[in-house]
Amino acid sequence: MTRLKAAITAIHGYLPEYVLTNAELEQIVDTTDEWISTRTGIKERHILKGEGKATSDMGAEAVRGLLKKRGIGPEEVDLLLCSTVTPDMKFPATANLISHKAGIKNAFSYDMNAACSGFLYALVTAANFVELGKYKKVVVVGADKMSSIVDYTDRQTCVLFGDAASAVLLEPTEEDLGVIDHKFETDGSGYVHLHMKAGGSLKPPTYDTIDAREHYIYQEGQPVFKFAVTKMADVSLDLMKRNGLKVDDVSWLVPHQANMRIIEATGRRMALPAEKVMVNIQKYGNTTNATIPLCLWDYEKQLNKGDNIILTAFGGGFTWGAIWLKWAL
Ligand code: UT7
Repeated sequence: MTRLKAAITAIHGYLPEYVLTNAELEQIVDTTDEWISTRTGIKERHILKGEGKATSDMGAEAVRGLLKKRGIGPEEVDLLLCSTVTPDMKFPATANLISHKAGIKNAFSYDMNAACSGFLYALVTAANFVELGKYKKVVVVGADKMSSIVDYTDRQTCVLFGDAASAVLLEPTEEDLGVIDHKFETDGSGYVHLHMKAGGSLKPPTYDTIDAREHYIYQEGQPVFKFAVTKMADVSLDLMKRNGLKVDDVSWLVPHQANMRIIEATGRRMALPAEKVMVNIQKYGNTTNATIPLCLWDYEKQLNKGDNIILTAFGGGFTWGAIWLKWAL
């Protein structure tokens, strides 16, 4: 019997309307367009505005567009996974709310959280369900309303992040396409450099935690930077090596979009020409769980069936990893 693989058969993204430029940030904190551009590569990011608007609203928009693009109804979806660090509520899962808003009634759904690597981990989890042969249409959503956990008085973090959602549909194929292999790693000791101090079971919310501004992203940029530049390249190279993939065999590298300098250093360490490295950080900033599918969506027209694509991410946890994907469309 041929082993089933899970192929991406549709991809779609959603970006909220409001664009927060570097010029506007210059009015909010002590920063400059020059600093943000040269240190991060970011020019603007989208922000979800409006009372009552949350991560699930962006996720549902992405899913509606995805199903329309594939020409299927919501009743055909078997499973929906959402990777996010900014769930609408602590519970229920944002995936449940996305399914509800997108009219998905015949599926089960749940969230996954591996910070910036979340989309990759969710994609492999979803692929495993598809490979079982039991689930024919599985949606993976990467969505974050980062503006809900960004401290707009902290210039070290507020310039970095944006809001967005993106979704892919996975379906079984007997061809040698789709999710082929992956390598994931975590190191929990890295939490000290990147986390949210309060709001969890360790430190439930109090007036004091609010006064101390502990419900926002806390990041020590330099150590995270140092790990990110080596880990994404090294895990991608390990994955390629064990599959006999040479640099010339790789059509595209899709790195998590946290900093242009990290993206460039990763490409250089892997000896990949810059033309093969997907970049859209200038338009969206770091959208955490949405960066990688948003890249695939932006570059969709340039992708060809059979292209070898390496997806790689590094983020809070620390978590990092890489997936070898063969484009199926
Ligand atoms: O997606 C999750 C994973 N996250 C990452 O991968 C992020 C990794 N880290 C980074 O991308 C970078 O470390 C940052 C972009 C966060 C910071 O860049 P950096 O080159 O590491 O800057 P730095 O933190 O070393 O700060 C350099 C200087 C400092 O001033 P002094 O001490 O040299 O006087 C900062 O206070 O830049 C200052 N600075 C700013 N200046 C203007 C920090 N933020 C700003 C700002 N505008 N927004």
